[in-house]
Amino acid sequence: MSTVLSPATGLEASTLTSTRIANTADSVSFAGVGKSFGSRTVLADVSVEVERGEVIAILGTSGCGKSTLLRIVAGLDLPTSGVVSIDGTPVSRVDSRCAFAFQEPRLLPWRTLEANVSLGLPKKTPKAAGQARVRELIELVGLADSAGHRPREVSGGMAQRASLARALARNPGVLLLDEPFGALDALTRLKMQDLLLDIHAAAPTTILLVTHDVDEALQLADRVVLLGRNDDAAPDAGAGIRSIVTVPGARPRDRSSHELAELRAELLEGLGIERHHG
Ligand SMILES: Nc1ncnc2c1ncn2[C@@H]1O[C@H](COP(=O)(O)OP(=O)(O)OP(=O)(O)O)[C@@H](O)[C@H]1O
Ligand SMILES: [Mg+2]
Repeated sequence: MSTVLSPATGLEASTLTSTRIANTADSVSFAGVGKSFGSRTVLADVSVEVERGEVIAILGTSGCGKSTLLRIVAGLDLPTSGVVSIDGTPVSRVDSRCAFAFQEPRLLPWRTLEANVSLGLPKKTPKAAGQARVRELIELVGLADSAGHRPREVSGGMAQRASLARALARNPGVLLLDEPFGALDALTRLKMQDLLLDIHAAAPTTILLVTHDVDEALQLADRVVLLGRNDDAAPDAGAGIRSIVTVPGARPRDRSSHELAELRAELLEGLGIERHHG
């Protein structure tokens, strides 16, 4: 029997899916969430229920409030109206149930990748348990051979893997990803998408993923939330949920399927990109 290797990590796919990294997954409820900065309304009346373990992609034009929405989930910003609850408890301050990863890996340059990942461990994690978890995560993201390197000694994709592992080290109930692959080249980006699927199979936490890439959203998400201002809304109204699309098919999905092509066109239209009919 031939061994199936995960395209992203080079690990045996069967190992990945059978190895469940200890994890939690929390539900997230947005109830009438609005956010204004001074007199400027950015978000208005965002309401959606996210199930435990669900992967939600958030799409929207630049400046529509995607990062602000994630910050509100993490308690880094408070909503002006409405409430976000994680597993039924309202978020009122920086919430330790969330972990964030950004477009830039934001690693400490003087620490090894392994030491950077261990910075994500919850405070008071017993040393041996922490070391074991970091090792497990380093393995999961395919960095076993580079764990002792410093960030400047590795590629952007590897640094981003370490950043993902650091976020997972916290064992978050909600993983918040703000354009995590936005700075990577196209090929690395595809590999990282596969890696995220592997990660979610091994540690099926709830994921809110902000992306500008419609194909990435369709490849990774259970549902895609399109944020934006409704056409008939006042020009100074904030962005709300324009549509929520359930993506058909089990992951990994066939990137060239007809069904996804149709959804892609719909979502692009929602982002203001017109269809070209051949
Ligand atoms: N702390 C703040 N004070 C004032 N305005 C802010 C603040 N944070 C965000 N904004 C404004 O809110 C709007 C939404 O910002 P946000 O960063 O959430 O957008 P975004 O959808 O993530 O954009 P991008 O796709 O470019 O990352 C922007 O116009 C931004 O200038
Ligand atoms: Mg943003």
